[in-house]
Amino acid sequence: MPVTTTERGWKASVTRPVDWTAEVLPGLLDATPDQVPDLFGDLTVSPRRLVVVDSNVYRLYGHRILALLDRYEVVHSHPVVVAGGEASKNRATCDLITSGMEGFGVERFSEPVLVWGGGVLHDVAGFAASEYRRGVPYRMFATTLLASVDAGFALKVALSHGYKNRVGAYHPAEAMFTDPALFARDRSHIIEGAAEILKWALAAPDPAVFDYFERHGPDAVANGFAADDPHALAIIRTTIEGMMRELEANPYEAVSQRRSYIGHGMSPGLEPTVTHGQAVILDILLTLMIATGRAVISETLRDRIVRVIRATGLPLWHDVLEHGPGPIMRALDDTARHRHGLQSIPVMDGELGRITYMQDITAAELGAALYDLNRTATAI
Ligand SMILES: NC(=O)c1ccc[n+]([C@@H]2O[C@H](COP(=O)([O-])OP(=O)(O)OC[C@H]3O[C@@H](n4cnc5c(N)ncnc54)[C@H](O)[C@@H]3O)[C@@H](O)[C@H]2O)c1
Repeated sequence: MPVTTTERGWKASVTRPVDWTAEVLPGLLDATPDQVPDLFGDLTVSPRRLVVVDSNVYRLYGHRILALLDRYEVVHSHPVVVAGGEASKNRATCDLITSGMEGFGVERFSEPVLVWGGGVLHDVAGFAASEYRRGVPYRMFATTLLASVDAGFALKVALSHGYKNRVGAYHPAEAMFTDPALFARDRSHIIEGAAEILKWALAAPDPAVFDYFERHGPDAVANGFAADDPHALAIIRTTIEGMMRELEANPYEAVSQRRSYIGHGMSPGLEPTVTHGQAVILDILLTLMIATGRAVISETLRDRIVRVIRATGLPLWHDVLEHGPGPIMRALDDTARHRHGLQSIPVMDGELGRITYMQDITAAELGAALYDLNRTATAI
């Protein structure tokens, strides 16, 4: 659009196209330039790439990652190796990556940084990439279930600064690749990803997404989302596709009512005492209790979902909830400051597939929800 003249000056207006992709690529570490020529972007423009890798991933797969880079004739220096885990989601880790980019001399447009790791690596390295030279591209190689079904292709990148994800930007990886064979396989890691999968199963416009998870999710979790489990793969693919559609429709959250916010309005008040995935599930459970109290959903639907959470091995209670509604209420207040002053807590509108948004949740209502959850968690 041309610059227009206003009463007191001029107005400019631009739109910026953003493309990003997400792919499940079985055999990722064995890929060859013939099979997947664009794995590291266009190497004919520049073959140089800075590699940033989670320390656990480097320990387990470092030699195979380096062999993969060699097969593609990527020119790289020693990778920047940083610790994952919530405690690393800070300015110090970000600065380390920025120094790595400066030391390597990452070019502004044609040398996407290659990031290997989970959601924390995505968020911190993605944030560093958003700042460096006012934004350089990066490509994400997601190695946890959670990063594969959510963080790895998210637009949002962030650091925690006194509060979870307080400092951040919108800067998606230009491409995300994942391979279930690479996932961190401990049960605790799988549970983290399963929490985000369940979030989408409840938020999805198609109730069949939850039906499928109800039937196959508990086994998929028990098997650690094994690479050879077709149901696990189907769940991962469905979640990625649904979330990509969700993000594309409202990329910068201008509309603060978003289905996929389920489990994310109160959870920051529980972190970092509990992990992100656990906090999301506890938030979902409290949301269900409040919605039942308001007669937005039936006890039958609530109990069906609670049963799936139990069968999946996700938490139904945590000591952090013994602190009462105070921290959760403070998180709700903060959430409202993020959503045009409204809490806008999504929940099923009577049935799966339809969503309504709850407002004006009070401390007394939260107290009742905590009581109900405690009772339900032990009764079902
Ligand atoms: N940007 C977003 O929109 C978005 C969405 C969802 C979650 N997140 C963020 O994601 C983060 C959680 O991500 P996460 O659960 O992947 O945590 P993480 O990245 O810290 O990984 C968890 C642990 O697994 C280790 N690890 C990673 N890959 C491994 C592998 N293949 N084998 C063995 N160990 C491995 C890491 O070193 C770390 O200790 C949270 O900070 C959350 O806020 C962001």
